[in-house]
Amino acid sequence: MLKTHTCGELKNDSVGQEATLAGWVHRRRDHGGLTFIDLRDRWGLVQVVSDPEYAEAHEIMASLRSEYVVQVFGNVRRRPDGATNPDMVSGDIELVAQHVKILNISKTPPFDINKIAKVEEGLRQKYRYLDLRRSHMLANLHLRHKTIAFIRDHLSQSGFLEVETPILFKTTPEGARDYLVPSRLHRGKFYALPQSPQQLKQLLMVAGVEKYFQIARCFRDEDQRGDRQPEFTQLDMEMSFVEQEDVLQMIEVMMTKLVSNLTSMKFQQTPWPRFSNEEALNRFGTDKPDLRFGIELQDVTELVSESEFKIFSSAEAVKGINAEGCGTYSRKEIDSLTDFAKQYGAGGLAWAVVGEDGSISRSSFGKYVDVATMNALNKKMHAKPGDLLLLVASDIDIVHDSLAALRTKIGEKISSYDPNILACCWVVDFPLFNWNEQENRWDPSHHLFTAPLTEDLRHLKTDPGKVRGSQYDMVCNGYEMAGGSIRIHDSELQQQIFGLIGLEQNVALDRFGHMLEAFEYGTPPHGGIAVGIDRLVMLLAQEKNIREVIAFPKSQQATDLMVGAPSSADVDQLNDLHINVVDLPDDTIE
Ligand code: AMO
Repeated sequence: MLKTHTCGELKNDSVGQEATLAGWVHRRRDHGGLTFIDLRDRWGLVQVVSDPEYAEAHEIMASLRSEYVVQVFGNVRRRPDGATNPDMVSGDIELVAQHVKILNISKTPPFDINKIAKVEEGLRQKYRYLDLRRSHMLANLHLRHKTIAFIRDHLSQSGFLEVETPILFKTTPEGARDYLVPSRLHRGKFYALPQSPQQLKQLLMVAGVEKYFQIARCFRDEDQRGDRQPEFTQLDMEMSFVEQEDVLQMIEVMMTKLVSNLTSMKFQQTPWPRFSNEEALNRFGTDKPDLRFGIELQDVTELVSESEFKIFSSAEAVKGINAEGCGTYSRKEIDSLTDFAKQYGAGGLAWAVVGEDGSISRSSFGKYVDVATMNALNKKMHAKPGDLLLLVASDIDIVHDSLAALRTKIGEKISSYDPNILACCWVVDFPLFNWNEQENRWDPSHHLFTAPLTEDLRHLKTDPGKVRGSQYDMVCNGYEMAGGSIRIHDSELQQQIFGLIGLEQNVALDRFGHMLEAFEYGTPPHGGIAVGIDRLVMLLAQEKNIREVIAFPKSQQATDLMVGAPSSADVDQLNDLHINVVDLPDDTIE
């Protein structure tokens, strides 16, 4: 090694020792004819000081610039009184440079590595290798490593077997678009990158593995968001001979240990509360409720159904939230909330400010609604002087979507929640199918291998919309962290589901014939779950975007700005793959 110690290792008890360090010039300053540098490596920072007695080293030290790579040999000494730095782990000591060797020079970086400053996202991604030198990014990589190491350890000790599954695969039914890979050997044929290892983990259960996990790469061609990347990582798991409760317990125990071992964060409530999908929608407008905020939706549909205000009386649903203490909002602020609600499909936002005496002092709909109804509304919404009531009247889905978004926006503003809190819950009892208006058919709400709840099987033929799946989501601070289900392990039932979602027999056989066949060879009852590792680490690192915890993420447009991917391919390569790229008119491209 070109170093005897790491920079993080040298402390008080190293005084008097000789050490060779190697790393990057983090910061340099000149003072009284001496050069001071903070030398950085992955483990920390150490101050190195020049000494004219070692003339050559002294001279080289003076020539160093930010991000030069250097090797320094010297003696560790206590810093003089008044020169210590309590913010640095090695702040009591310094290394006196006796020999300095420049191992490499550096151009001036496009942004400061030694400052916690906001840098434009595109620049960070283009120079990701420099961005990752910044301490908080390194800390995130470290936390990600520890998270995965903990999971591997914990599950190995609990009898799980880690099994790798192929990346070159066949279409997987997770609901996003596939990334396709053309085959050279099989003209006109494509592999699909797995959206998840769903089918393979079920086949591993048929194979008798019983307890499987994998830190699995998944690929989904879908619109990007702060918590979505085209390629991401799951902790993918499957177990045989389990029921829903076993899966939930297993995850809750593992997460509790993980959080207490790796962080100083705390759960808001244990055991985690559970909501049916219906309850979550009714109370919070979403199946991903952020429970750090107490605000709940109130249903006032009945109350205003007779009102002269057509927007209220003709709507499928009228619900509202009480933005406590926001009665001081100006008209401009309320208008901006209205614009915000409109992004979620709401036609507008009805609002009312509660005055000193507890009655409505100003509102957007007061003149259309009688006093008795107004009072009833106030009561239902637990209104107090100084509150702002926000109501949306529309189709139920729009009411829920827009109020859920408003709830989070207002909650983040008015709630003083502890950043160390993880508010986790389970959402269960989802409908097995959602009606697809455009295609005029049922779509699986999770995926097509999810088992119906036994007590709802009777509705399968007559009223599929009533059937709930044995399906569960883990939600934390408003993010869906994990999703899973107990699976169908019966070939006949599986075929019935294929039929219900409109998969033609021959298509079902072509895509999933291997599953149906496997289910005929003694398939154990089984179920599983997948936890989004990127989202989990994002929450543990208290970041707001999963890009912050991924070493080389894709941009919002699914590109890699550092290497320039995707890129065009050579004609020879395309010929090998039997591909001819043609330009289509713009309007044929989605
Ligand atoms: P699901 O599709 O719900 O289930 O995914 C499980 C978890 O993976 C994470 N996730 C993502 N993270 C980042 N970027 C994305 N584009 C992305 N998509 C999903 C989320 C989500 O909760 N095979 C099933 C699991 C099962 O049934 O066992 C599946 O993949 O945290």
